[in-house]
Amino acid sequence: MNVEQILNQFQATGVETCFHDRHINPQIYAGLNGKNWGIQDYEVRGGYAALRKILGKDGSEGLTQDQVIATVKESGLRGRGGAGFPTGLKWSFMPRQFPGQKYLVCNSDEGEPGTCKDRDIMEYNPHTVIEGMIIAAYAMGISVGYNYIHGEIFHTYERFEAALEEARAAGYLGDNILGSSFSFQLHASHGFGAYICGEETALLESLEGKKGQPRFKPPFPASFGLYGKPTTINNTETFAAVPWIIRNGGQAYLECGKPNNGGTKIFSVSGDVERPGNYEVPMGTPFAKLLELAGGVRGGRKLKAVIPGGSSSPVIPADLMMKLTMDYDSIAKEGGSMLGSGAVIVMDETRCMVKALARLSYFYSHESCGQCTPCREGTGWLWRMVDRIEHGQGRASDIDMLDSVAGNIMGRTICALGDAAAMPVRGMLKHFRHEFVHLIEHKTSMVGVDATSVKTHG
Ligand SMILES: Cc1cc2nc3c(=O)[nH]c(=O)nc-3n(C[C@H](O)[C@H](O)[C@H](O)COP(=O)(O)O)c2cc1C
Ligand code: SF4
Repeated sequence: MNVEQILNQFQATGVETCFHDRHINPQIYAGLNGKNWGIQDYEVRGGYAALRKILGKDGSEGLTQDQVIATVKESGLRGRGGAGFPTGLKWSFMPRQFPGQKYLVCNSDEGEPGTCKDRDIMEYNPHTVIEGMIIAAYAMGISVGYNYIHGEIFHTYERFEAALEEARAAGYLGDNILGSSFSFQLHASHGFGAYICGEETALLESLEGKKGQPRFKPPFPASFGLYGKPTTINNTETFAAVPWIIRNGGQAYLECGKPNNGGTKIFSVSGDVERPGNYEVPMGTPFAKLLELAGGVRGGRKLKAVIPGGSSSPVIPADLMMKLTMDYDSIAKEGGSMLGSGAVIVMDETRCMVKALARLSYFYSHESCGQCTPCREGTGWLWRMVDRIEHGQGRASDIDMLDSVAGNIMGRTICALGDAAAMPVRGMLKHFRHEFVHLIEHKTSMVGVDATSVKTHG
C-alpha cells in the first residue's frame, strides 16, 4: 500500500457530530441545531452579555483587567488544547505594560487524530470563540488577534470569517468596542493541514508565513511570540468557555466540574461505539456514563481498551478505564495516561493492538517535521518495527528495542511531538505486551476476529 492509499483509508468523514440531546449540562454546545450560528441567535442565547458586563455596558461598573483574570483563575479552567495548563495563570504571564504590540492567538489547528470538537464549535457557535477572544484581549491589554484554523476544513474558516463580519458590524470588534476605549482587531487565518502546526510555536512560524516548524523554548510565546512580540495562545474550546464563566462567575464554573478541573469538557468519542460524536459533559463524569451516552460498545461487543485523550495519550485497558472519571487528575493519576485534547478512542475485543499501534506510529512518523534527529529518525524506526511485527516478520529483540527507541526519543526533542510518538508505544507495551510477543512467536495476531471486517467511522 502506498502513502496515498494509507491516508485515504483513514480520511475523516466530516459529518456533523454535536446535534443530539446526549450532552450533560452543556455550556458551549447548548441549543445548537446547525442553523443558529449567526449573531442574532447567539445574542438570544445570552451571547455578548459577558462582553457588555466587563465593559460596564449592562448598567454595571464593569470589570477591571485584574478582575477578569481573577475570575478565570477562580473558575479552574484548564487549557483544552492538550496540556491542561491553567488558563487564568497563563493570562497573568502576559506583560500587560509592555509598550509595543502584543498578540492573542487562537489555536484551531485541531490535527490530533480522534479530535473533532473545535471544528463543531467554530462552525455552529463561532461567536462564543470570538466573544471569548475579545474578553481575553481586554484582560491582557491586547489589540490584535488571529484565529489559526486547520487548512482542511476550509468551510469552517469561511463560516468563522462570516461570523467575524457580523461581530464587526455589530460593534463588538474593531475600534472603541461598544463605545468604550477598548479596541481589538481579530482576523482568521488558515493553515494547510500539517499536524505540527498545532504546536504553538510552529503555529506562530506558520502564521508569520514561514515553514511551520517548532521553535526552541525558552523563550516562551508570552515574551517572544508572534513577530517576536508577547503573545498568548489558547485552544478554541478554552476561549469558547470564557463567556459562560464571565456571565455566571468563576465559582459556578468550578462547581460544574471537580476541584482543579472546572467546567464542562467536550469529548470526541470515536471508534467502536454505536454513536460516535462530540459529547459535552461536566469534568469528572464517569467514563462509563460517557460510553453509555455514545450508545455503548458497537454490536454489543466487549470493551477492550480506550485511548482517553487523543492519539498521543497512552492506552488504558477496559477494566481500569471503567473505574475512571473524565478529568485531568483521574486520567493522569489513576489511569497513568492523559486527558489531552479529549479525543476518546474506544476499541473493542476485535482490535489487534499491534495493528492499532502500527497505525499510530505511521502517523507520527509522517508528521514529524524533521528538525531533531531523535524524532525524525526515531518515529520512522518505531513505525518500521511495529509494522514488521504486525506483518509476522518481528524479531524477539524488537520489543526491547521498541521500548529503548521510545525512551531515547522522550525528553530529547525540541517539541512534544517526540514524546507524543513515544508514549503510545510505552503504553501499549505496558498493557498489551503479550499481543506483541504472540505475533512475533506465532506470526499471527492473537485477536480472534479479523479487525478489518469491522466497519469504522473514519
Ligand atoms: C505536536 C503538537 C500538536 C498540537 N496540536 C494542537 C492543536 O491542534 N490544537 C491546540 O489547541 N493545541 C495543540 N497543541 C498544544 C499547543 O502547543 C498549546 O499547548 C495549546 O494550543 C495551548 O492552548 P491551551 O492552553 O488553551 O490548551 C499541540 C502540541 C503539540 C506538541
Ligand atoms: S520533536 Fe519532531 S516535530 Fe518536534 S521539532 Fe523535533 S522533529 Fe520537529
